[in-house]
Amino acid sequence: MTRVPQLCLRPETVMPSEKACGPEPSGFGMRAKALFCGMRIIPCRAVTLKEKNMRKLSDKTGTEVSENVTRDEFPVSVRKADAGAEFGIHELDGVSLEVPVFDKSCQYLAKPASDYVFNTGLLRNLLSFLGKSSGDALYLYGPSGCGKTSMVIQAAAVLKWPTVSLTVNGRFELADLIGHPTIVKNELVFVHGALARAMKYGYVLILNEIDLADAAELSGLNDVLEGRNLVVIQNNGEVIKPHPSFRLVVTANTCGRGSRGTYHGTQLLNAAFLDRFRFIGCDYMSSEEELKLLKKVVPDADEGLLSGMVKVASEIRKSHLDPVPNHVYMSVPMSTRALVRWAKLTAEYSYESDPADAALVHAFTGRLSEEERAYVTRLKFDIMTGDTVNP
Ligand SMILES: Nc1ncnc2c1ncn2[C@@H]1O[C@H](COP(=O)(O)OP(=O)(O)OP(=O)(O)O)[C@@H](O)[C@H]1O
Ligand SMILES: [Mg+2]
Repeated sequence: MTRVPQLCLRPETVMPSEKACGPEPSGFGMRAKALFCGMRIIPCRAVTLKEKNMRKLSDKTGTEVSENVTRDEFPVSVRKADAGAEFGIHELDGVSLEVPVFDKSCQYLAKPASDYVFNTGLLRNLLSFLGKSSGDALYLYGPSGCGKTSMVIQAAAVLKWPTVSLTVNGRFELADLIGHPTIVKNELVFVHGALARAMKYGYVLILNEIDLADAAELSGLNDVLEGRNLVVIQNNGEVIKPHPSFRLVVTANTCGRGSRGTYHGTQLLNAAFLDRFRFIGCDYMSSEEELKLLKKVVPDADEGLLSGMVKVASEIRKSHLDPVPNHVYMSVPMSTRALVRWAKLTAEYSYESDPADAALVHAFTGRLSEEERAYVTRLKFDIMTGDTVNP
């Protein structure tokens, strides 16, 4: 008797593999592909003892575990976190929030970076959202490299709250976040995407560069942004209830109203979509905080040199924001990312006659126009030698 391969529609936590089928006509959807390969379709399957045990476990936090997940993927309890103590920032003493507790082997837990410097004001706002989202999503906007994405990842890392961080683009489709059917070992299975998993198990989902995505496509997120269920039509209408610990944070360089030129490719976003967010504007850290950061990143470097670097970055930002007539206009600000790169490369280029000069080219000025490059080189010279800044 010929054995007919079975096709089972169910969620699974496996990587897509289509080896089972071999070549077939292109343009087939997964269902058609499965039928083409002569598979029998079974819409559901029996629950294994392992899954029953997992369900019992998950009952403690109210998480519904309906798929083959490992224990570390869903929260086991909730706890009260004291922000002042956990972040080591006394201004946050008395700020407490409820956070989910996951097994420490959870693959979505990030490791806190020892050299991360939190902006206390921004962190307080972020913690207020993480602690109680009240049905909102969070929109963080600000210049490139000022620390939007890393702040959320690092704050969640300190709180041991899993994060999934993705960057969207002009060809982003909602289905990429929800999931897709795929064939694994002769079975058609539905693999949940980042949004579906974050909603089910209470992760912080970060969608970066949201203003690069198509406004109409993003509107598909409107229900989820308001705390409603996610209906997965592609998986037989599966309904995913948002876990109480699920948070959605988006980051962008604009607040959805396009850019005057610096951030090419950004889109005008739909007003109804934007209306579902809490907006927090981010900016570069203060000079004191940036110096503190550089000292952590390159502890052996000369403090005078680091403070000069911070001043150069600050002057460049001023020239970008407030162009002075007849003076050089800086088309891009120097980000914290570029500043950190400059400090690190300077420490690495000790074999150069002027390490800071050589590092500045690779870290920042290499991409500027000749005029801007000459201005930054002179600015750096003036600041480092103690001359008056005169652009
Ligand atoms: N507060 C900070 N403490 C330590 N490092 C920081 C901080 N802010 C920024 N950085 C450094 O700058 C880099 C860029 O930060 P991040 O990716 O968070 O910026 P962003 O605002 O999300 O930028 P983009 O808009 O380009 O996505 C980080 O990888 C880190 O090296
Ligand atoms: Mg970012």
